[in-house]
Amino acid sequence: MPESAPLYSLLYHSHASRAVHEVTLTSLLRKARLHNQQAHLTGLLLFAKEQFLQVLEGPEPALSDLYARINDDPRHYDVHTLAYGLVEARTFAEWPMAYAPTDAAFIEKIIGTIPVPVAVGLTAPPSEKVNLLLRKFAQDHAPDQ
Ligand SMILES: Cc1cc2nc3c(=O)[nH]c(=O)nc-3n(C[C@H](O)[C@H](O)[C@H](O)COP(=O)(O)O)c2cc1C
Repeated sequence: MPESAPLYSLLYHSHASRAVHEVTLTSLLRKARLHNQQAHLTGLLLFAKEQFLQVLEGPEPALSDLYARINDDPRHYDVHTLAYGLVEARTFAEWPMAYAPTDAAFIEKIIGTIPVPVAVGLTAPPSEKVNLLLRKFAQDHAPDQ
């Protein structure tokens, strides 16, 4: 489908609540993918035992509406936006929500490449470097998507 609306990309980090196991993620992902397809949202969810890193991309206000619901979800806490902004193209176009388990070291590596904002309130979309790292990870570790 040609993209007519401006596209945004958002990257956040959060801590998983105690009750979250990989098994519970199966049903979360099934519902998420259905919703994301309807809302033209795509992305990647990484889970490393106690933390999540997720990229959401697509048009507004669908993206921010979903992010507000995700923020309120008790299955995680300390939801922290790392990057948000306009992008020219999707990084995860073929994934309504790719999923890959990972480890804390990979998540820390991604967070370590995010530049510190130069001014309060000034946000930028995920950098090309972050997008390439995450896309490669999804291609190698989320083959069922
Ligand atoms: C880490 C995490 C990632 C999530 N990702 C998505 C997603 O990509 N799409 C989606 O529809 N719901 C996602 N959810 C679920 C939403 O938080 C929420 O449960 C869902 O949108 C239904 O919201 P509602 O119960 O207010 O209708 C995610 C939840 C968590 C904890």
